[in-house]
Amino acid sequence: MKILITGGAGFIGSNFVHYWVKNHPGDEIVVLDKLAYAGNSQNLEEVKNKIKFIKGDICDPTVVDEAVSGMDVVVHFAAESHVDRSILEPDEFVQTNIVGTHRLLKAALKHRVQRFHHVSTDEVFGQIPLESKEKWNEESPYNPRSPYSASKAASDHLVRAYFTTYGLPITISNCSNNFGPFHFPEKFIPLAITNLLEGKKIPIYKPGNQVRDWLYVDDHCEAIDLVLKKGRAGETYLVGADHREYTNMEVAKMILRLLDKGDEFLEIVGDRPGHDVKYAIDSSKIRNELGWAPKHGFEERLKTTVEWYRENTGWWQAVKSGEYLKYFEQNYQNR
Ligand code: NAD
Ligand code: TYD
Repeated sequence: MKILITGGAGFIGSNFVHYWVKNHPGDEIVVLDKLAYAGNSQNLEEVKNKIKFIKGDICDPTVVDEAVSGMDVVVHFAAESHVDRSILEPDEFVQTNIVGTHRLLKAALKHRVQRFHHVSTDEVFGQIPLESKEKWNEESPYNPRSPYSASKAASDHLVRAYFTTYGLPITISNCSNNFGPFHFPEKFIPLAITNLLEGKKIPIYKPGNQVRDWLYVDDHCEAIDLVLKKGRAGETYLVGADHREYTNMEVAKMILRLLDKGDEFLEIVGDRPGHDVKYAIDSSKIRNELGWAPKHGFEERLKTTVEWYRENTGWWQAVKSGEYLKYFEQNYQNR
């Protein structure tokens, strides 16, 4: 099988490429990635001889047409993915996440790919009140509240429209927050770990009681593999760890303990505008229909993730320089 993986040099995409090389060694793997700030060819260093890499933009119709031509399957990860950046500069989110996805859909239809899998987020559903026991499922209404989630919601709608209007065999997965190796250190968990390793504090957006559903990245990769194998065209699957609730403050304190640091390394800073207080997923559909279940516990994998960052200081030190420092100052200076 020939599989095109967009955004394969980013966090989840590169983990997925590693997963696919290991689990489907006979397949031809092509990665299309423009190496935006979060894309890093180092993430694919170990598998570079087993894949073909195209450096290109999903918004460029010529590049996309060539990349999609001859592919059996497209798995689409490429996106602008960080909420705080979408608040500071939303334009690129509209461009890549909406226009870029549309370019890929057109090419997938033209070249009659057998499956277009769109990787999306639970953030399209908005937020759940902290005190509520509600969990989202595939029928939950869309209510995105940040430019990031609004752009992902728009892309989901386009993907579904290509199924209903043109019969393109699509599937969508909306997953909760991932964590693991190669996670760009602007996101909460890798930021917390790498800041502590640098002797700096963890910035906690006020008041720190917000809740996320943290899924280890390998479990997400397995879910996508199952959807490709057994999922029905036109269907959406929600993917989440569904563990007990952990607030951001609790997660920060767990990371402090893993790195032998005290509470003086916590710093409460001003909140993110429009901060979604809670995400929670009911993943019964993928569990019951496709037999998926997460294999990795949150606390156990948080520990191995901390170890990974401890052992790969060169990787994140190179990332936390240049453009990153400018973004960091812009995002945190007036909080
Ligand atoms: P990431 O920011 O780490 O990686 C995104 C990748 O896309 C990078 O390699 C980047 O270079 C590439 N890219 C960006 N713009 C591009 C363009 N115009 N053309 C080609 N490549 C481009 O993101 P991630 O965390 O790995 O997320 C991957 C996907 O999974 C995204 O679609 C995101 O919405 C979705 N998702 C992420 C999470 C999460 O917790 N990180 C959870 C659910 C869904
Ligand atoms: P993040 O990793 O940015 O993912 P998302 O906002 O897409 O869920 O943030 C996870 C949670 O951590 C979210 O509630 C915001 C919070 N957070 C902080 O408290 N401090 C930080 O410096 C960052 C980046 C996030």
